[in-house]
Amino acid sequence: MSEFRVNVQAPSNIALIKYMGKKDAHLNIPENSSLSMTLKSLCSLVDLQVSFPEKGQEKGSIRWVPEAPDFRWEGLDPQRPLLVPPLQGHGVSRVIQHLDRVRSVMPEVFCQFGLKMDSERLKNADFRVRTANTFPASSGIASSASSFAALTLAMAAACAQESSAFQNAWISEPRFKRALAQISRTGSGSSCRSFEGPWVLWQGEAVEGVEASRMPPMAHFVILVRTEPKKVSSSQAHAWVRTSPLWKGRVDRVEQRTEKMRAALAEGDLSTVARIAWTDSWEMHSLFHTCAEPFSYWEPGTIEGLHWFAPLLQESSPPIVTLDAGPNIHVIVEKAQQQQWRDRLHRCFQGQRILEDEQGTGASLIRISEGAWTQ
Ligand code: DP6
Repeated sequence: MSEFRVNVQAPSNIALIKYMGKKDAHLNIPENSSLSMTLKSLCSLVDLQVSFPEKGQEKGSIRWVPEAPDFRWEGLDPQRPLLVPPLQGHGVSRVIQHLDRVRSVMPEVFCQFGLKMDSERLKNADFRVRTANTFPASSGIASSASSFAALTLAMAAACAQESSAFQNAWISEPRFKRALAQISRTGSGSSCRSFEGPWVLWQGEAVEGVEASRMPPMAHFVILVRTEPKKVSSSQAHAWVRTSPLWKGRVDRVEQRTEKMRAALAEGDLSTVARIAWTDSWEMHSLFHTCAEPFSYWEPGTIEGLHWFAPLLQESSPPIVTLDAGPNIHVIVEKAQQQQWRDRLHRCFQGQRILEDEQGTGASLIRISEGAWTQ
């Protein structure tokens, strides 16, 4: 039996202009543009083993193995733990269905980029996937963004007949990377922003990097207010926001914000970036608070934190403060001031766990190798 394995990593990303509301829930086409910063070490690792049974013994399967991948790479902080996500029935089938979908659409994508795939052989192959995250579940980091990006890249790489040709296209062809981002989007919308970085714009089906050469390098903190699983999934939230009276006009407002945010990033205007991110995060949460069956992700600690941050927006180098669909507070600051911010946040949010990261450049292919699966 011949076999090979693919190792990839993909970081999470944090939206400064939020994807909230879908035009097409099946394909995850968003109602509005969104803009995010890609992270670096808060990421998912995927180890995909592909084996080809002897002729006559083929069955063809895709299975998730609940174990951590055993590889690391130099870009990953060795202190980061590797945590296997606690996937249950629905979570496991979502992963398997996505891998299957990636495999089935790959011939069309490969065709556009001169890559080859032996579909018949792959149909009969056994795929075993191991995944892990460098952050705990429900910690306020979008694990679906990083996992689906990593799963997409791993399966796409596994489908290529010549791994060197795949690596070449992955490294040198931005259009190829963006084609994979589009496929990833169908697994989880926000994952399409994890293929490049640091600043990424997603509009409809298109994903692209944003010019921000005058922005300083940024660091990222998450203040963990509460880490219990959320009661309302982001998929439910996407559907419910439309019932809010504040939904009217949201798409136009976001498009205006997006244009302003792009200009501010190009100019390195941190104050404007922070101001727009603050407004958009509040607006998204207001939609949750005012929909037909109102709900809130906020905890008392979230509100206290937001009170503390509000006046800091007036500072000359303000923090970018935003909340995803959860109670935890994301804070993005200039990397040159990371130590001062670390001290400041630990002083003010004593006793609360704070995760730390920095801006990154998106998913990467670590290794495609022949060899036995150590199990
Ligand atoms: C609040 O990407 O998790 O984090 O497409 O249903 O998988 P699905 O939704 P998901 O939504 C993320 C929503 C958000 C905002 C954002 O990241 O833009």
